[in-house]
Amino acid sequence: MPFSKIIGSGSALPSNIVSNDVLSQQLAAKGIETSDEWIVSRTGIKQRYIAADDVKTSDLAFEAAQKAIADSGIDAAEIDLIILATSTPDYIFPSTACLVQSKLGIAGAAAFDVQAVCSGFVYALTTADSYIRAGNAKCALVIGAETFSRIIDWNDRGTCVLFGDGAGAFVLKASDEPGILATQLNADGSLHTILHTAGGVQHGQVVGDPFLRMDGQAVFKTAVTSLEASALSVCAKAGIAPETIDWFVPHQANVRIINSLGRKLGLDEDRIVVTVDKHANTSAASVPLAFDAARKDGRIQAGQKVLLQGVGGGFTWGSVLVQI
Ligand SMILES: CC(C)(COP(=O)(O)OP(=O)(O)OC[C@H]1O[C@@H](n2cnc3c(N)ncnc32)[C@H](O)[C@@H]1OP(=O)(O)O)[C@@H](O)C(=O)NCCC(=O)NCCS
Repeated sequence: MPFSKIIGSGSALPSNIVSNDVLSQQLAAKGIETSDEWIVSRTGIKQRYIAADDVKTSDLAFEAAQKAIADSGIDAAEIDLIILATSTPDYIFPSTACLVQSKLGIAGAAAFDVQAVCSGFVYALTTADSYIRAGNAKCALVIGAETFSRIIDWNDRGTCVLFGDGAGAFVLKASDEPGILATQLNADGSLHTILHTAGGVQHGQVVGDPFLRMDGQAVFKTAVTSLEASALSVCAKAGIAPETIDWFVPHQANVRIINSLGRKLGLDEDRIVVTVDKHANTSAASVPLAFDAARKDGRIQAGQKVLLQGVGGGFTWGSVLVQI
């Protein structure tokens, strides 16, 4: 059975950076109090990128995909599978994956979206890995892309300070050399109300609440417990000890969740990739954005073992252990 090897990565961020101070001033003008000190001490977030009104999820996804394809050195026509993770698609249908395929000008390959919120990228990566290992695809484009700023209630200080927009992409290729070593996906739908956007469309109108709502403390506790178990499971499947992982690239939601997990897994902070300070929580885009940053600045190198983890609404969580 072939391995799925990551042969390229790329990312895209909108041009508009909103610092905590600027966001605090914007909220203060509406009578809502927050501060850089509160946001940094509770989450580690210092700024976020916010897409302009005319920038869609597919635009960010396309830019990240183009960079990943250029980085891999393949001809885009080789791609025979596109999986895009998002909870903020351009349309109800068709999928954003199909829109990206159209922008890339490569008709023919299977293309579909995966919806697992902030776990979306590890769900998409695991799905692509299964296709490749089964011999059903040879070259997959896997994208996480979001414009969460569109589903944030900018009058809710408990959530609006946490999220940002962006996209990241991998090119995976079938290879005889080790690539993805093990994967582990889980969900507990009974927890769907602790993090959700419960609006729907009926008779041409949004019915229900169109904004993201969250029980922050329940999410925090569930994330730490589920991700520790997931990491141990994926390492056991691959037959490696967690403390021998070279790089941990966790979902970038909160630096306190990340450091707590690092301690439980015996991983020092200098082996954990943190971008939540710059990107905030970009949901399905967060893991490939963080991975790409650490790969491009030379921290993640060929031969190393990297643990990727996602967690989010559903409730969903998952891990991918990969040799670069
Ligand atoms: C959201 C989170 C940062 C809140 O931190 P917390 O310590 O749990 O804070 P609480 O929700 O208990 O709120 C504490 C106080 O801060 C206030 N507060 C909330 N947001 C605030 C903000 N942006 N600025 C200032 N005060 C704020 C609350 O109103 C509350 O005030 P009160 O005590 O007067 O009622 C934290 O729960 C968290 O990170 N959870 C996980 C979220 C996450 O990762 N989500 C994405 C998963 S994919």
